[in-house]
Amino acid sequence: MASGNKDKEIYVCESCGHTTVKWLGRCPECGSWDSLMARKLRKSEGKQCALAEIPGSPQEPVPLPSICVEDKNARLQTGIGELDRVLGGGIVPGSLMLLGGEPGIGKSTLLLQALSRLSERGLEILYVSGEESPSQIKLRADRLHAGHCSMLVMCESSMEKVTGTVIEKRPHILAVDSIQTLFDSGTSSLPGSISQIRSVTSALMQLAKTMTLPIFIVGHVTKDGTIAGPRALEHLVDTVLYFEGDRTHSFRILRTVKNRFGPTHEIGVFEMSDSGLLEVKNPSNIFMQQRQHETPGSVIVPCMEGSRPILVEIQALVNQSYLAMPRRTTAGVDTNRLALLTAVAERHLELTLYDRDIFVNVAGGFKLSEPAADLPLIAAVLSSFVERPVGSDTAVFGEVGLTGEIRPVSHTQHRLTEAARLGLKRCIMPVAGGDKLSVPKGMKVIKAATIHQLQEVLDQP
Ligand code: TYD
Ligand code: MG
Repeated sequence: MASGNKDKEIYVCESCGHTTVKWLGRCPECGSWDSLMARKLRKSEGKQCALAEIPGSPQEPVPLPSICVEDKNARLQTGIGELDRVLGGGIVPGSLMLLGGEPGIGKSTLLLQALSRLSERGLEILYVSGEESPSQIKLRADRLHAGHCSMLVMCESSMEKVTGTVIEKRPHILAVDSIQTLFDSGTSSLPGSISQIRSVTSALMQLAKTMTLPIFIVGHVTKDGTIAGPRALEHLVDTVLYFEGDRTHSFRILRTVKNRFGPTHEIGVFEMSDSGLLEVKNPSNIFMQQRQHETPGSVIVPCMEGSRPILVEIQALVNQSYLAMPRRTTAGVDTNRLALLTAVAERHLELTLYDRDIFVNVAGGFKLSEPAADLPLIAAVLSSFVERPVGSDTAVFGEVGLTGEIRPVSHTQHRLTEAARLGLKRCIMPVAGGDKLSVPKGMKVIKAATIHQLQEVLDQP
């Protein structure tokens, strides 16, 4: 390229947006191969002071008390309780919400169900899809018994056309499925690349803020969250929801990862059926129904997901090992946590576990990450080791330290009440942390200070 040319050529990485002046086989920033693409840099580019041009951004500083806050009741409820819960009570006007998840998990289904309910209440909805044709969307809507609702459907992938339609039709809610298919012609990289996703999201952000328009963005995430990009735009949006679940199970969990207008770590539980997603109002009932009675190695844990207690079952299997390195395999709990707790149990309960394979599973495809699952994990391993059941009417929770002490955990009362609601009769829990506890009728609380005391309780017939 001649040096006097007006337009300079640069190379932009398609996966992370890194720029170099020379072509390289591998991006020095993210390490991906063959991802640098040539791009003309116009002379005017890079000189803009973009902030000053954002319409609606405050030009003058204003005193905090004089700022008018929107009515709290202005949140729009979708009518799907589990979705409203993770949104912190409903949709906030002018917010940008990212719905992420693996392909095929049910993002489009959930969105269509929520939007059709809002449309039935007289709100105007614009659903932009770059993935499906109008007839495919209609077929899906019919399957969800929502084919009659009057939302506007647009199959388009140009950001400019979407913006034009929004300004013309002025919908109450906009949904974009998915962000990977939209492109902005001002950015020369391919749709789905990081620079496109960023530029399209910024454009949507401006639309949301200037028109006080709530916008749902669907984003595909792969298992490691890298290729598809939504992880890179988490900081741009107001709310990030992730839809997760095991495709071999019909349960799906909608989790808040970030929420500028509500609590995080809330979950919503759904079940995928032939006619769409059904709300699961009492997840404990489901995880408990599948339970077998009085089996060694099975323990019930009242775990907390956000503000909500859920009863799940941990199963452990301790077998004679014929390997030089015995196996420690887990599903639903961290393998390192199991190794740590196994070491604590070996030392303080004098169990011989070095020649045993240990397998741990959380029933129903659920994932446990709380420290409160420590004590039940040890109880399950111990129960399988001595081949004596803990009892199908017993709940166990508590954090375990390296010296074998049992530490208090949060929300003791919630956990106890949920266990009693599901008909459990006994609860083994930490000594401290439950001073003002109101013990439900018919429930026997056993407080243990060390795992040695847990062993004594389990040894009693
Ligand atoms: P979809 O919403 O298309 O996933 P995403 O948008 O996250 O890629 O969901 C696709 C899956 O859901 C597909 O495997 C079929 C299944 N499904 C049902 O089981 N029941 C239904 O009523 C619908 C609409 C989909
Ligand atoms: Mg989809």
